[in-house]
Formats: sequence, C-alpha cells, structure tokens
Amino acid sequence: MESLRLNAPVLAVESSCDDTACAILSHRGEILGERVHTQAEHARLGGVVPEIAARAHLSLLPKLVGDVLDEAGLSLDDIGFFAGTTGPGLIGGLIVGSNFAKGLAIATGKPFIAVNHIEAHALSARLPGGEVETTFPYLLLLLSGGHCQCVAVRGVGDYERLGTTLDDAVGEAFDKVAKLLRLGWPGGAALEKVAREGRSDIFALPRPLLGRKGCDFSFSGLKTAVTRHVGQYNDQTLTRSVVADLAASFQTCVADVLQDRACHALAMFPQARALVVAGGVAANQELRDALKNVATAAGIHFTAPPIRYCTDNAVMVGWAALETVNACKNAQKNVDDGIPIEARPRWPLDDLKNRS
Ligand code: KG4
Ligand code: ZN
Repeated sequence: MESLRLNAPVLAVESSCDDTACAILSHRGEILGERVHTQAEHARLGGVVPEIAARAHLSLLPKLVGDVLDEAGLSLDDIGFFAGTTGPGLIGGLIVGSNFAKGLAIATGKPFIAVNHIEAHALSARLPGGEVETTFPYLLLLLSGGHCQCVAVRGVGDYERLGTTLDDAVGEAFDKVAKLLRLGWPGGAALEKVAREGRSDIFALPRPLLGRKGCDFSFSGLKTAVTRHVGQYNDQTLTRSVVADLAASFQTCVADVLQDRACHALAMFPQARALVVAGGVAANQELRDALKNVATAAGIHFTAPPIRYCTDNAVMVGWAALETVNACKNAQKNVDDGIPIEARPRWPLDDLKNRS
C-alpha cells in the first residue's frame, strides 16, 4: 500500500442511515465533487427500513462515485486516500458503504480512513468557507433523527459527550408528532412549515427536564402529551388550524427545552468559544434563532453549517478524515493507531482519544 499522500484529494462515502453520499475534497478541504441521494423508498413505509437502506446503498454507490469523479475531473488514481463512515449507525449500510470505500482503497493501493459519524457532524462546523472560522473549543448540539447530544469539542479527536437523550432523538419526536398530525414522514420540515400558521399558546404541553441538572434530553412525554390532544379530535375536527396550533405549540416547547439544555451544557463547559448546531433538525429556523439567543447571551459565536451539511452528507466525512490525518501528522501519530476499521453500530466518541 502507498503511504498517505497528504497533498492529494480524499474520496469519502457516507451510508450510516438512509442517505447515500459521496464526495471528493482537495487536501485543503475545497469541495471538488459531491452527491447525496436521500432514499425515497422509506417514506411510504413511515420510517427507515435497514435492509432496504443497505441494498439501496449498494446499488447507488457505483454511480455516485463515478459522478463525483466526473464532477471533480479526476480518476481514482488521483485520489490520495479514501474515507468511509464505519459507525455509529445502521450496521447493514455501514458495512456496504465503508467496504465499498475500502475496496477502492485496496484496488488502488491507497490508505483507508475510518470515520466516526458523530465526529463528522462535530467537525463540519469547521469546513472552510464559513462566515466565521469555528475554532476549538466549542459546544456541539447534534440534533438529528438518530442522535440528540451535547458534545464538548476540545480538538480533533478530543470529545466528551455531556448529555444525550434518555428516550427519543429530537428529530424522531418531530417525525412522530408530524405523523400524528398527518404530515407524512419524515415530517420535521412539514411541521415547521405548518407551525408558521399557528399559535404556540393554544395547547399546554410539558417541557421535559426543563431546569433539571445536567444536559440530558427527553422527548417521549412531550410526544405522549401531543397524542392525548390529537385524540380529542377526529378526521373532521382535526382541521388545518388545529394542526397548525399543535405544531406551533410543540415546536416552541422543543425550542424552550433546547435553550435550557444548551444553557446547562455551556455551564458544564465554560471554555466553549462557540455554540454549534448540526443535524437535520438544525435546519429549523425557530430552533436556530432560539439557540442563537443562548449563544449571544453567553457572549460566544453561534454557528450552524449550511443546511445541506447539517443533514447527512459525505463532505463532512471527507473533512473529518482530512482533519484527522492532519492532527495525527502534527502529533506524529499513525492515523490507524487504536482505531479498528470494521463497521460497528455503536462507536462512542471517547474511543477516538487514542487516535490523535
Ligand atoms: O441529520 P438527518 O438528515 O438524519 C439523521 O441522522 O437522522 O436528520 C433528519 C431529521 C428528521 O427527523 C427530520 O424530520 C428532521 O431532521 N428535520 C427537521 C427539519 N428538517 C429536517 N426537523 C425540524 N425542522 C426542520 N425544518
Ligand atoms: Zn447524521
């Protein structure tokens, strides 16, 4: 195998859930080519079906890789190294995508870098081209369909999970409530849209864990409360205006909870110079505004990566690989030290400490 060519592009693959993605980044992090295919087949089934997702990744990846190479005007020989998400996530998809990238690495005699999906979200705020450069240390709020965490990001490979959800992820709560309100799946964006027409003070809803010590989350009680309200209506009486009021009440509730949890997390991590939000739910404007207010009150920067890099993508995977390679070079460490390259559904961030 060739040794790592640090000034050549990286080709990265993401396949941990229902987005199949591929990207090529220059060694400086410029995006030379990118594709994300969100698998539509899960919508009619009301949720991600792991087996279907894994098969879809397998059939989509060869074309996506060809497309990004064409867009970048490169061939596989021009790639310096390959990267793939190896966890955490749905194991079938992780096996397919990471082994696809590994196969390309073996076929071309180049190195393969295993990337942790949460780390990729955590570092995406540092992608070049942002309004302000996000420097360490910062607090990450990862708000997606699969994850809901507060993470202290001290440097590349140096993360501490400060809090997580005790039940549902925040995106999962949006999706379940959207389903109850007959807004389809995944329903976060549709819920935000209809909430704009509603009033948030019509329905009384609980704010789980508000004021509670630490920065864990809980959303299942909130979802149950919405279920109870919806149960008082039938198909005729659950009008657009009732749906809008319920959606607005739910969203404001989530905003209040996130503000409270973010304040607690910042108190636990006073060194943070910025508050960063990522994950699909970070696309929500009311939640972004609420969290920006928390950052402003704390006198620190607020950063949300562009929406297309908030949701799952391979650019963040390539970027995390570049950051890792550079951090390891600076620390004179081997990039493979202590990191198995097998796909695994669970991969705690703390394990990355061994790397750099
Ligand atoms: O990060 P992501 O693309 O995939 C996961 O890792 O889950 O996040 C998808 C989640 C879904 O739950 C979706 O409903 C939610 O993000 N979402 C939103 C919005 N756009 C997407 N939730 C609230 N408001 C939005 N505008
Ligand atoms: Zn994700």
